[in-house]
Amino acid sequence: MSAKPIDPEPLNQLLSTAAKNAGKRIVVLSGDGIGPEVTSAAVTLLQDCAAESGYKFEFIEMPFGGIAIDKCGKPFPEETLAACRAADAVLLGAVGGPKWDSLPLNNRPESGLFALRQELGLFANVRPIKVRPALLNISPLRAERAKNVNLEIVRELAGGIYFGEHKSEGAAGSERAWDVESYTTTEIDRIVRFAFERAAHRGNHLTSVDKANVLASSVLWRARAKEIAASYPRVKTDHMYVDNASLQLVIAPEQFDVIVTSNMFGDILSDGAAGVEGSLGLIPSMSWGLGPSLYEPIHGSAPGIAGKNIACPIGAISSATMMLRESFDMHAEAQAIDAAINHVLESGIRTADIAERGTQSVSTSEFVSRTHSAMREHFSQVERYGWAV
Ligand code: IPM
Ligand code: MN
Repeated sequence: MSAKPIDPEPLNQLLSTAAKNAGKRIVVLSGDGIGPEVTSAAVTLLQDCAAESGYKFEFIEMPFGGIAIDKCGKPFPEETLAACRAADAVLLGAVGGPKWDSLPLNNRPESGLFALRQELGLFANVRPIKVRPALLNISPLRAERAKNVNLEIVRELAGGIYFGEHKSEGAAGSERAWDVESYTTTEIDRIVRFAFERAAHRGNHLTSVDKANVLASSVLWRARAKEIAASYPRVKTDHMYVDNASLQLVIAPEQFDVIVTSNMFGDILSDGAAGVEGSLGLIPSMSWGLGPSLYEPIHGSAPGIAGKNIACPIGAISSATMMLRESFDMHAEAQAIDAAINHVLESGIRTADIAERGTQSVSTSEFVSRTHSAMREHFSQVERYGWAV
């Protein structure tokens, strides 16, 4: 008698129940400036989801960034690192501000961010750019063009010029300063493969961006990207110089699916691409590595508007939905939060940065409470008709 094949379904059910019971531990690094306002918005909505879906989320707030310098003398205390390592995912607000800008580069809040990326082995940073229908009017592009934008920037996050030598020498008035950009084959291969995998699960198109007409590190980058492309015959691959890529993101961004590029080019291009949506406040990100992933809005600490309850929470909330999808496979819950945001936007509710000229805007907390209500409404519909609706 031949052995009966194992039916995976009951096993899957058991596993997902186990995951539910075990719960998820989310370390929250609110950080500086508007970081605490926007992360608390995201946590509120995650709590709503947990309450509805039967998942347990445990939130652990740890000091990080400028606030950690003030409290513990350094931007990334050991206890914060230990908590991050033991987490299922990390949610970060933002770091930095004028208060810490005169500190040496290696003890600024930003250096905590680099250490966090490095210690958690976060080599891939993903920044999705897609215009919500209700926000087509704030895109600087014409609506017919903006509505077709759906791209993802995959930025190398653990190498390149950010982690090369930064030095200066010489007497005042005749100094020389330099920063070294270098990439190894291993570093390039892992990020390019990661990006090909993303492209293979999206639109099957990858654009690798470099400056191979000038930089040796880019010549190597392009050669590796070409070689790896051979293992992904179904993904159409382009190679583009970074100056042209910045132009194309403005004049024809709908041509892109996944863009893969180095640390610094990715930093610059992702702010440019955010411009297509009309506000930096809208964009989430995921940093991915071997351990827990890190989710954060890309807007930064915005010290000028900190504490005023006017920051846009959508970048942070969308980072939380990215966490639900990418780390926890909770697609229905992510969808519920997203639908709630769209509902609120469709009824004309906006924070100041995304309000059209001459229209009224609401505070951060008002926007969150409206989203919370829209989500309760969504869940009650789902309960009535089942998850399939
Ligand atoms: C980002 C930010 C950081 C970076 C800064 C704050 C150091 O601009 O995440 O894009 O350059 O990586
Ligand atoms: Mn940046």
